[in-house]
Amino acid sequence: MTIKFDKNGILEEINNISSIENLENIRIKYLGKKGLIPLEMKSLSSLSIEEKKIKGQELNIIKSFLEVNLHNKKNEFENKLINEKLHKEKIDTTLPPRDFNSGKIHPISQTIYQVIEIFSAMGFAVESGPDIETDFNNFTALNIPDHHPAREMQDTFYIGDKVLRTHTSPVQVRTMLQTKPPIRIIVPGRTYRSDSDSTHTPMFHQVEGLLIDTSSTMAHLKGCLVDFLKEFFQINDLKYRFRPSYFPFTEPSAEMDIAYTKKDNVLKFGEGDDWLEILGCGMVNPVVLDNCKINSSKYQGFAFGMGIERLSMLKYGITDIRSFYESDFRWLNHYGFNPLDLTSSSGL
Ligand code: PHE
Repeated sequence: MTIKFDKNGILEEINNISSIENLENIRIKYLGKKGLIPLEMKSLSSLSIEEKKIKGQELNIIKSFLEVNLHNKKNEFENKLINEKLHKEKIDTTLPPRDFNSGKIHPISQTIYQVIEIFSAMGFAVESGPDIETDFNNFTALNIPDHHPAREMQDTFYIGDKVLRTHTSPVQVRTMLQTKPPIRIIVPGRTYRSDSDSTHTPMFHQVEGLLIDTSSTMAHLKGCLVDFLKEFFQINDLKYRFRPSYFPFTEPSAEMDIAYTKKDNVLKFGEGDDWLEILGCGMVNPVVLDNCKINSSKYQGFAFGMGIERLSMLKYGITDIRSFYESDFRWLNHYGFNPLDLTSSSGL
């Protein structure tokens, strides 16, 4: 036995190496065929049996000590390599920004938001009601009795004894039956009529207005609607007119037109000699108030209703109403709005 093995020395030797190749050199030095351990093993043959046993055990302990520490060090190197590789080859699993097909707000929604903004600033609250209505709310309470010709003005979809509401006016009835005046509401929502061409779709949108108190007059109705249209179309000098009309639920009734001209094939609103019908309105018929349990000798008010699609088509130059509902992504990309756009140009 010529060599004295020192565990600490061996450990230091292993820990000081800087590459996996040097580790192999150490293994060969100690454990290789001609390495120090096999060499010592051979030299054991010259010893006595007792000494052989003791020295043999010692050598075996050193041998496994070397094997374990070389193995650990090798693992350490390999892990380090793998980690470096993983870090370098990291795969970016996030998607690149896809602004080419980000979502857009549909012009109908945008128009409804604008209408709500303007009327909210005037103190109107937003109400809603179901699309499937009773005949009473959609017709009878609004002074359109059975077999009245006005029912035929609104080609109705019937579902058993219920109807798909033909206008937003039944929400007037619901509100009056549920709350006491003063009432000041607008009702944007879906409406249905059996009609389809370039200016009519079977489903469309209206916004209804209802104001009930003890003193409001036709003058207030006019002021309210003129202010609304000036704000909506952003026209200060709006040329408009109120035409006498007929609705069973208002008395007197009127329709409001705004003036327009066509210059170089482009429509210009608010001026000119041609007229465009924009909404229906009037003073709430006392019969309707009574039908809705509101004392018509004490209360009065006005109502109006207009088509959202029509407002939207005029404001944004959309020519065919059916295009709103074709779900054509290119169309929506063109006419739609970014979610963070202010809903009105006044920035209300
Ligand atoms: N409900 C009417 C329609 O759909 C519009 C309207 C509402 C007219 C309120 C007057 C008052 O045609």
